[in-house]
Amino acid sequence: MLAMNYRGPYRVRVTQKPHPEILHPQDAIVRVTRSCICGSDLHLYHGLVPDTRVGMTFGHEFVGIIEEIGPDVTKVKVGDQVLVPFNVACGECVFCKQQLYGNCHESNPQATAVGGIFGYSHTAGGYDGGQAEYVRVPYANVGPTVIPAEMDPDDAVLLTDVVPTGYQAAEMGGIQPGDTVVIFGAGPVGIMAAKSAWLFGAGRVIVIDHVEYRLEFVRNYAQCEAYNFESLEDPVLFIKKTTDWLGADVCIDAVGSDAAGSAMQTLTGRKLLLQAGSATALHWAINAVKKGGIVSIVGVYGPTDNLVPIGNVVNKGITIRANQTSVKRLLPRLIEHVQAGRLNPKEIITHRVPLEEVAEAYHIFSAKLDDCIKTVLIPSPAKL
Ligand SMILES: NC(=O)c1ccc[n+]([C@@H]2O[C@H](COP(=O)([O-])OP(=O)(O)OC[C@H]3O[C@@H](n4cnc5c(N)ncnc54)[C@H](O)[C@@H]3O)[C@@H](O)[C@H]2O)c1
Ligand SMILES: [Zn+2]
Ligand SMILES: [Zn+2]
Repeated sequence: MLAMNYRGPYRVRVTQKPHPEILHPQDAIVRVTRSCICGSDLHLYHGLVPDTRVGMTFGHEFVGIIEEIGPDVTKVKVGDQVLVPFNVACGECVFCKQQLYGNCHESNPQATAVGGIFGYSHTAGGYDGGQAEYVRVPYANVGPTVIPAEMDPDDAVLLTDVVPTGYQAAEMGGIQPGDTVVIFGAGPVGIMAAKSAWLFGAGRVIVIDHVEYRLEFVRNYAQCEAYNFESLEDPVLFIKKTTDWLGADVCIDAVGSDAAGSAMQTLTGRKLLLQAGSATALHWAINAVKKGGIVSIVGVYGPTDNLVPIGNVVNKGITIRANQTSVKRLLPRLIEHVQAGRLNPKEIITHRVPLEEVAEAYHIFSAKLDDCIKTVLIPSPAKL
């Protein structure tokens, strides 16, 4: 089969790989009809995630058709059209039982660090992902969810990560009616966090980024304010000024380790790899939130340390909430929001690319070219 194949930082291509097989009675094989490239894939692509092995297939956002099932799979059957949450979760461990599917204790040999994630390096279990024609889906009674008949698969594929992650970012912010919510990052996740913030009752939503076309997009799509940090003297000062010098009620980091905006953080975090990526957006979030406010982090950082202003967290009495998203927990509510038209995920898709052109697609998404917000990869047999 054809699959995306990681060859080293900034180098990916499509190659033939062996067709995946059922390795466990609870496995399913899914024929992929759509997969996406995510900002999380960019951290891998940029070489920021340890133990990203050459030969690995990325892709944790995918939908497809169940092609084959192991003898213990009862919740889905061959021929079902499914969306597959990005978390690989057993459904039975102490964390899964609390619906913390992003923190499953069984699906990753390094379970104390993070739960299993499709296509996300050996630090997250080493599972090959869905940027391929086929993918093996473990614990197939847990993750795969039949796509409602009337739902567009383009909406469904965004329910595997981006929509729940933006939504959980807002949820973790504990937004109270009328709150001012500042979101760092106008990528797909930040865009969905902005949209979700309104659903939680925010009174004012501000997005910060430095890519003009994304700021323009989020202004229209999420009906919020959006500012370019390069044209602000200091984004933290700006937020303080515009909130009567109190700071935002809630700040959301939807950027993670690839953050721009500080030469020191970029040098130590992205060039010299002395810390787990650049923590610039996180700095700004901590410094721009009000005393007693909440910082919600969904931006991804590596397992090693980051330089963050922990003293300010203590002195300001900030609550920090962060996690990998528990996609399955949120799916019923989010499917409802999509069906009711309150969320229109597919409108963020700007690029539809044959899987064969994955290298160019990564380059365009990474370099923020061609007004790219979200890219969907389509394997050629699945062309619709
Ligand atoms: N926790 C989870 O479960 C989860 C799930 C999905 C994605 N993520 C993470 O969420 C983050 C965003 O994902 P995405 O797909 O939107 O990525 P993306 O790369 O498309 O978007 C990130 C945006 O941040 C902007 N940016 C860079 N530096 C900034 C700064 N200092 N301040 C404000 N904006 C800045 C970039 O210009 C870009 O538009 C990534 O770190 C990704 O790994 C986490
Ligand atoms: Zn993702
Ligand atoms: Zn589990």
